[in-house]
Amino acid sequence: MEKTQDQIAKQNLKGCYIKTYGCQMNVYDSERMAEAMAAAGYRSVDTPEAADMIILNTCHIREKAAEKVYSELGRLKPLKDKNQDLIFGVAGCVAQAEGAEMIRRAPSVDMVFGPQTYQALPDMLNELAQTRAAGKQARIVRTEFPAEEKFEALQLQERKPITRLPTAFVTIQEGCDKFCTFCVVPYTRGAEVSRAALDIVQEAEALAAQGVKEITLLGQNVNAWHDRETGTGLAALLRRLSDINGLARLRFTTSHPNDMDEDLIAAHGNLPKLMPYLHLPVQAGSNKILKAMNRHHTAEHYMDLVSQFRLARPDLALSSDFIVGFPGETDNDFEQTMALVAKVTYAQAFSFKYSPRPGTPAAEENQVDEDVKSKRLAALQDLLNKQQKEFNESLIGRELPVLFERKSKIEGQITGRSPYLQPVHVYMNETALGELVTVRVTGAHANSLSAVALD
Ligand code: 5AD
Ligand code: SF4
Repeated sequence: MEKTQDQIAKQNLKGCYIKTYGCQMNVYDSERMAEAMAAAGYRSVDTPEAADMIILNTCHIREKAAEKVYSELGRLKPLKDKNQDLIFGVAGCVAQAEGAEMIRRAPSVDMVFGPQTYQALPDMLNELAQTRAAGKQARIVRTEFPAEEKFEALQLQERKPITRLPTAFVTIQEGCDKFCTFCVVPYTRGAEVSRAALDIVQEAEALAAQGVKEITLLGQNVNAWHDRETGTGLAALLRRLSDINGLARLRFTTSHPNDMDEDLIAAHGNLPKLMPYLHLPVQAGSNKILKAMNRHHTAEHYMDLVSQFRLARPDLALSSDFIVGFPGETDNDFEQTMALVAKVTYAQAFSFKYSPRPGTPAAEENQVDEDVKSKRLAALQDLLNKQQKEFNESLIGRELPVLFERKSKIEGQITGRSPYLQPVHVYMNETALGELVTVRVTGAHANSLSAVALD
C-alpha cells in the first residue's frame, strides 16, 4: 500500500537511539544501522528518552558481556512501561550469541539481530509492525550469517556524512576462522569474508569527496582480506586507496601474525600514506601457551615479523594485545611474555586477565588463581606503560604532522592524532580542525602528547 504524505511525515518524526559497545567494527556497524533506520523513516536521537526505537549494539569480548546487556535492558525498561510502542532491539555479538534466549530472559526485547543482518532492519521493522497491527505479540530473532549479503547491501546505501570528522572507518573484512581457544569471535561473527575491492574503493572515494582525510580499514582479521576475483592481498588494496585524491592517511586493524605477507610488510616502507603504526596481537610469549591458545605461531615467528617490519619502517610504532593467566600459564611462561615485551618494545598495548568464555575450549580446566592473574597483569602493565611513556618522550622536540579532529576539553586547545596514533593537544585556532598541520612536540604524557604550532 502507498503511504500518504501524512503518514510519511509522521514516520519521519520517529527517533532511533543506538548505543554502541566494544570495537571499532561496531562503531562502523552502528553508523550503517543509522542509515538503514533512516531509510525506514527514523532519525538519530541522542537520548533513549527521545527514542521510538532503542538499539543496543553489543560486544561479547569482555567478561559477563551478556549479563551487562541484561542489566542495561533492566535500566531501560521503565521507558517501555511508559510507552508500549517503544521498540527495543539488541544487535551485535551478544545478540548473535544469545539469540532467542534473549527474548526469554528479557521479554521487553522486540528484536534480536546479529552483525550480519543489519541491511534487513527496514524489513524486520515492517514485519514487527504488521504482526503488531494484527494484534499479535511480535518478536524477531535473526542470527544467520549471510556476511556477503551484508556487504552487498552496504554498497547500495549512499554513505551520508554522520559526523564531520576528517577520519572514517571502512569495514573490509568480517569474521574469523582462527578459533583461538579463548575467543568468542569465530562463533559470533562467523567465517572470514572479504568485501569486494570495488565497493571498498567506491566507499573510500565517496568519503574522500566528503572531506575525509584518513581512513582506517577494519576487519577481525583485516590482513586476511583478499580480492575475491584476483586473489591479491591487503597491500594491493592499500596501493589502490593511496591513489585517491584527498586521502592523506591509511591505517588498518586488527592483524593476525599468520596472515602477514611480504608485500604488506614492504608497503610500510614504500607507501607514504600508510601510517607507521601496527596493531599486531601476540597474546603471550611462551610457545607452550601460544600452542594451547591455538595461535598457530610461535614467539620466534612473531619476533621475526617484528624485525622485518622494522627493517621496512624503522620508526614503526607497535601495538599488541596480551592475555595473562591463560589456563596452565606458569610463572616461567609469564616471564617469557615479559621477555618478549622487553625485546619488542611497544608504543602502546592492551592487556587482559584471561577470563573464561562459555563455549570456548579454554574455559574448562586448569584455571590460574585470580590473585596470580592480577599480579601478572600489574607487572605486565607496568612494563608496557613504561615503554609507552618512553616512546612518547622520544618524540619530544620532533615536528609531526597532526590531523586535527576535535576541540579538546581545555578551552583554546584542539586535538588530533600523530602518525603514531597518539592524541596530540595543541593551543591553536579552530580553523585547523579537519586539517593536517605540522606541529612541534613539547610534552609527553601517559597516553598523549602536547605540542605547539610552528612559527
Ligand atoms: N579473556 C581475556 N582476553 C580476551 N580477549 C579475547 N578473548 C579473551 C578472553 N576470553 C582479548 C584478546 C584479543 C582482544 C580483542 O581481547 O587479547 O586480542
Ligand atoms: Fe579471536 Fe583469535 Fe580470531 Fe582474533 S584471531 S578474532 S583472537 S579467534
